[in-house]
Amino acid sequence: MDGVIVPEHALIAHKLTRLRDKNTSSVLFRNLAREITQILISEATRDLTTIADERETPLSPFTGDKLAAKIGIVPILRAGLGMSDVAHEMLPMARILHIGLFRDEETLEPVYYYDKLPTPPNVDLAFVVDPMLATGGSAIAAIDRLKETGISDIRFIGLIAAPEGVSALLEAHPDVKIWLASIDERLNEVGYILPGLGDAGDRIMDT
Ligand code: PRP
Ligand code: URA
Repeated sequence: MDGVIVPEHALIAHKLTRLRDKNTSSVLFRNLAREITQILISEATRDLTTIADERETPLSPFTGDKLAAKIGIVPILRAGLGMSDVAHEMLPMARILHIGLFRDEETLEPVYYYDKLPTPPNVDLAFVVDPMLATGGSAIAAIDRLKETGISDIRFIGLIAAPEGVSALLEAHPDVKIWLASIDERLNEVGYILPGLGDAGDRIMDT
């Protein structure tokens, strides 16, 4: 699928297997989610534009590089928090913009409960992080909101997606590139991803 990158990576495959396992503790789950996120962020930042950065080593001047864009990391609460810390460690200059959304369990529609985006956001490029892309409703709503604030360059980083969610996100926001650890088989009748990993927020927060 154009616009969707699922890196073939032995470490991702190994860690994702343990992440899915129902016997994995919350402590291990959080660590695995962080480690997979680290690899995905590394992939998703591979082509970022850099500009010349004039510096000096102890021996000589040199022209290095610095990232050109003002970067934002946007965790979709709650589960996105399990990915944003490590993303911030890798991109310490980034601003963190929280968006609070939960899925109504009956309608599967996203419901806003927290939105304190700064205006203007002072961000050129936003990485939206959320472990699960199921129907796609939450990611689409979060990206709609970011675009309203004027951010046009947006990348989505998730751990597991359903094909239905990937198609919905690509249709709603064809300009948004997506990085995922896995695209699974399908959604079940109550909107959970199969085989998936269950409820990511509950497993991260141990609730
Ligand atoms: C989960 C997940 C996504 C959303 C995905 O959050 O973290 O935000 O569901 O589903 P969708 O693609 O069908 O919108 P949830 O609503 O369970 O909230 P939580 O993060 O607080 O657990
Ligand atoms: N949210 C989750 O946490 N898991 C799913 O499988 C779908 C939505």
